[in-house]
Amino acid sequence: MKFFADTAEIAEIRELADLGLLDGVTTNPSLVQKSGRDFIEVLKEIVKICPGPISAEVVALDYATMMREAEVLRKVAKNIAVKVPLTPDGLKACKALTGDGTMVNVTLCFSAGQALLAAKAGASFISPFVGRLDDVGFDGMQLIGDVRMIYDNYDFATQILVASVRHPIHVIEAAKIGADVITAPPKIIQQLFKHPLTDVGIANFLKDWQATGQKIG
Ligand code: G3P
Repeated sequence: MKFFADTAEIAEIRELADLGLLDGVTTNPSLVQKSGRDFIEVLKEIVKICPGPISAEVVALDYATMMREAEVLRKVAKNIAVKVPLTPDGLKACKALTGDGTMVNVTLCFSAGQALLAAKAGASFISPFVGRLDDVGFDGMQLIGDVRMIYDNYDFATQILVASVRHPIHVIEAAKIGADVITAPPKIIQQLFKHPLTDVGIANFLKDWQATGQKIG
């Protein structure tokens, strides 16, 4: 399973990259707004830190303008994945861009039918938003299971990129289902390290080691 960081904060991206845990980055207009930075400038920095796919979202809603925006975004670097919304124009742009060799991440997916359409449009990634589904009383992980089954039935190459991840259990459930990628705020990826028994175990080993009076090296 690949880990993408869902953030536009350079320091957080660098920290995960330094740990060797970063396979890609996803951004969206809200994350760019939160960073307070110029979108293209931030992208230029991210692509230097992480060689994996870096999702950059178009904001236009019509095909022609989406394609113009995609042109600007994909010029930033070869590893940019243009992010388009799951709309008829978005999928038309997806087909044109992937046909041209550009990676495309189809975002704002909330149903299996939408995921099927994205795969047929040749999407490199489909982004079902599990947290936002859970928020309104649907089962986000059920959608991941359904999409996995549909894609496997037809050998679709589109990768399932689980988005709107809110806690470590989302990551574990997505891995159990066999999702290809999760994108999560870096703090959630860091939370996967945490277990109270690990902390207690380290403290006890250190105490016992000190009692031996020994040193390594
Ligand atoms: O990048 C898309 C997605 O991960 C957004 O998550 O937490 O705003 O629902 P959230």
